[in-house]
Amino acid sequence: MFYYYGRKKQIAKHYPLPLYDVIVEPFAGAASYSLHGDNWRKEVVLIEKDKRVADIWQWLITEATPAAILALPNLHVGEKSSEFLHIVHAATKMAFKYKTIKVTPVLERNWEISKRVMASSLHKVRHWELIVGDYSIAPDIEATWFVDPPYKDAPGDGYAHGSNELDYPRLSQWILARRGQLICCEGQNGDYLPFLPLVTLPGVAGKLSIEKLYHRPTRHALQLDLFD
Ligand SMILES: C[S@@+](CC[C@H](N)C(=O)[O-])C[C@H]1O[C@@H](n2cnc3c(N)ncnc32)[C@H](O)[C@@H]1O
Repeated sequence: MFYYYGRKKQIAKHYPLPLYDVIVEPFAGAASYSLHGDNWRKEVVLIEKDKRVADIWQWLITEATPAAILALPNLHVGEKSSEFLHIVHAATKMAFKYKTIKVTPVLERNWEISKRVMASSLHKVRHWELIVGDYSIAPDIEATWFVDPPYKDAPGDGYAHGSNELDYPRLSQWILARRGQLICCEGQNGDYLPFLPLVTLPGVAGKLSIEKLYHRPTRHALQLDLFD
């Protein structure tokens, strides 16, 4: 829906399709999985701990209109902005730390694209539910759980609530106790679930970055496996 550091828009097609009528994203960010393809038509529940990110969703879900979005001023290279919605469009990990940002050519372009995308996608999110707070307050329901936390051992990931705040053993226990389908994302240091490599992407400074996935199609299937 909007540019965001760590968003899964480019690789959303690699994740399994949702098997349940409800998708829960307990680490919402820009919620690329729920927006991918026809996924948005499901019931979608977003949980986001960063109030500034949650405020963007609150605005998109309840208030914004396509006309109002398209009427927002364009950004121009060299200008400064203190709007968090502009700042996230820099889509770099450091952007979260800035109170004011200087508009770069990338930011100018991202914002222009995003205005059009937000305006034309608004109808997709009007029925979505937003919960502001920690992942652990998500409703305990049978659903497709798309779990994309800040990645383990990614110091300085930039998020207001980043990997340094997460207790990964506790997170893995919580994840495994969810009912339904689990689609869990991690990077190369993800080791708290049986993650498998999903796709390799070009990273910073010519390095490759590995995206990993843990998929448990249904809890029922897992139990049958155990008795095979
Ligand atoms: C990797 S990003 C999610 C990206 C998202 N899947 C997308 O496609 O845009 C992780 C998100 O989790 C949020 N977050 C961090 N700790 C959290 C917590 N304890 N509970 C809920 N959200 C949290 C961060 O603010 C960030 O927006």
